[in-house]
Amino acid sequence: MDITIDIPGLKLKNPIMPASGCFGFGREYEQFYDLSQLGAIMMKAATQTERYGNPTPRVAETASGMLNAIGLQNPGVEKIIDNEVAFLSQFDTSLIANIAGSTVEEYETVAQAFNQTEQVSALELNISCPNVKEGGVQFGTDPAMAAHVTERVKAVSNKPVYVKLSPNVSDIIAMAQAVEKSGADGLSMINTLTGMHIHLPSQKPLLANQTGGLSGAAIKPVAIRMIYDVYQHVSIPIIGMGGIQTAEDVLEFLLAGAHAVAIGTANFQNPFVCPEIIADLPHVLSHYGFSSVKEAIGKGHQS
Ligand SMILES: Cc1cc2nc3c(=O)[nH]c(=O)nc-3n(C[C@H](O)[C@H](O)[C@H](O)COP(=O)(O)O)c2cc1C
Repeated sequence: MDITIDIPGLKLKNPIMPASGCFGFGREYEQFYDLSQLGAIMMKAATQTERYGNPTPRVAETASGMLNAIGLQNPGVEKIIDNEVAFLSQFDTSLIANIAGSTVEEYETVAQAFNQTEQVSALELNISCPNVKEGGVQFGTDPAMAAHVTERVKAVSNKPVYVKLSPNVSDIIAMAQAVEKSGADGLSMINTLTGMHIHLPSQKPLLANQTGGLSGAAIKPVAIRMIYDVYQHVSIPIIGMGGIQTAEDVLEFLLAGAHAVAIGTANFQNPFVCPEIIADLPHVLSHYGFSSVKEAIGKGHQS
């Protein structure tokens, strides 16, 4: 069974990677298993300088997923390169740097820093964070702004750029086409859906930020629908994510048109979920009549 996949900048031994923000920089998970098993690692978002994130409470459980409003807490790009990329480079896996910013210039600066970092294979341009007041989702909900930031980051980076799309839009195809036209090498989708939980004892929103991003099993059908639609309208590869918990879920994403997938919230329920899915995937593919990952990509579209 061939579970390898080649997409711009990434020659993956398997299509499974932990999603940004749900795996930190791998230090906690490294205590559970050998991270070299992973197809790639999508690192936590990096901004130009250190961010402490939003006030707490920043996470809330829901019936089939979670709400988070972390607010891009991270030590800043230089410390990430010096400490975290250095730590992760001991593993035989590809590193994808997730970059965020409040201004186009900040995105450029962070992209430039990773561009000079040999161990980083690709950039994930996070224009879809719903939990920060400026930047983030503003770039991800307006096709013209998304196109502009993509173009500017592409101009300063030799690394392939995967633009991470927000589901909090009415026309996801327009967003995907705008960033493809501006030079995106791939897409990653979806980020979280904006939601809210009201805490009954206080009768107020539980999260200090009031709203948060919904992730986990509840959002999988939204992700599948968006990937299915976008696949028909772009020719760049898609890294799919949103509620994946099993190898069967991975196959569903491949059939919809994803070339690879990322697993986020499920890591919090089961820290072994990524290696377990990697081990199960060949059996699930073979059970449904496939002899490789490549064969399944987009198959949900053919009669
Ligand atoms: C606690 C938490 C933190 C996240 N932080 C980031 C982030 O820093 N950058 C980013 O692009 N996405 C971030 N995300 C979004 C995930 O990468 C992913 O797109 C989303 O959670 C959907 O996948 P899932 O349902 O498998 O979690 C975060 C999600 C969670 C739950």
